[in-house]
This record gives sequence, structure tokens and C-alpha cells, in this order.
Amino acid sequence: MEYLKDRHYARELLDWAYEQKPGPWKYHSIHVAEAAEILAKALKEKGEPIEPEIAYISGLLHDIGRYKGKTDAIIHSYDGYRLLMDMGWEGNAQVAVTHSFPRRNEEINTINGWELIPESMKREFSRLLNKFNWNAYDDIITLCDALAEAEGFTIIERRIVSASIRNGANKDLPKHWEGYFLIKEKLEEKLSESIYRLLPDIEKSIYKPLSLRNTPGKTLK
Ligand SMILES: [Fe+2]
Repeated sequence: MEYLKDRHYARELLDWAYEQKPGPWKYHSIHVAEAAEILAKALKEKGEPIEPEIAYISGLLHDIGRYKGKTDAIIHSYDGYRLLMDMGWEGNAQVAVTHSFPRRNEEINTINGWELIPESMKREFSRLLNKFNWNAYDDIITLCDALAEAEGFTIIERRIVSASIRNGANKDLPKHWEGYFLIKEKLEEKLSESIYRLLPDIEKSIYKPLSLRNTPGKTLK
């Protein structure tokens, strides 16, 4: 599967997307990339077949679909997928979709805000999720998306509560939250330590106010 391997070009793409739709999502993406690179390096040291450079770039580009501006629910994932597929980076395009589905292709119609997605796009998500073979980059970016705020690294619990206050939550959301913790457990088993020990200054996040509104300067995604 083809992945972009030039982090400078990836950063240019992120900067271009940010110019189309400025917002804290760019800084969230940079922190996702940094967390992904750190986790990938640690996994590589344990013998896992993973390239930290690809993990970093996949993090930078996972929310690139936000270039289209404010869209409902996980529509930015589809917009990012289309953009990256058109550029020929199928692997990065896959990550743009998979990071929004922490339970992979299970019960996708229970995703928060699913009712806001056009029918044709729902069918396309379903087709893609049944076709994908998830790999380490999909897992790492899905997890790091739940570990990175615009201001820096944070714990999953804080991030998902903030997102639920800002975006609302349906009754099935906890099922999808579980996906983050299952990925975390899987990676920690490989690393033989808590991922939180690897992310610098993560503990400082608990002293900051929680973002409560999707207003300019406050949005995390
Ligand atoms: Fe994200």
C-alpha cells in the first residue's frame, strides 16, 4: 500500500489545508503526528515492523479533509480519503477513514452523528470498512487521535469527555470509546509499559481547563 514518505511535503499539505479552513485542528494534527512517531519508534525498538516516518506523516494528514470547512460528524474523514486517494496515497487515505472508527467495521451505523451523513456516503463508508485490512498505522493514528489536543498530549478519558460535551453524544458512543482502550491495551502489551509514560508532559494536561465549545480557538479536532 502506498504511503507518502516525505514529511516536508506532508507539512506543506497540512499548511495548505489550514489556509482553506484555519483552526486548531492543524495543531491537533501535529500533536497526533508527534505522538504517533513516538509510539512507532518504541514499537520498532521492540521489533515491530513499523516505520515511524509513515506513522508521523499519517498523523499529520489524518484530518486533512477539514480543508473543506465545517462538516457534520465524520464527513471530514471521507473528504480526506478522496483527496489522498486522488494523490495516490492509498495508505494515508485509509487512515483518514479508519481513525473515525475505533471499533473498525462493527456497528458503524451507531457512530455518533451517523444520521447526519448523506446516504451515498454512508454506503461508501460501509463498502470501504468492509474492504480495508487494518494495520499498525490505522491502530496508532486512531489511538493518537484520542491522545492529542491542539495544546499537547492528553489522556483518552479527558479527550472523549471534551468531544462529547462539544459535539453531543448518542447512547452508543461508549461502545466506540471502548475501541480506543482496546487499541491502547494491545499496544501496551507489545511495549510492556503504559503509553502515557512515553508522551512528554502528558500529565500537565490535567491542570488545563477542558475545552467545552467548538468555537474558534477552542476546537480540538
Ligand atoms: Fe483528529
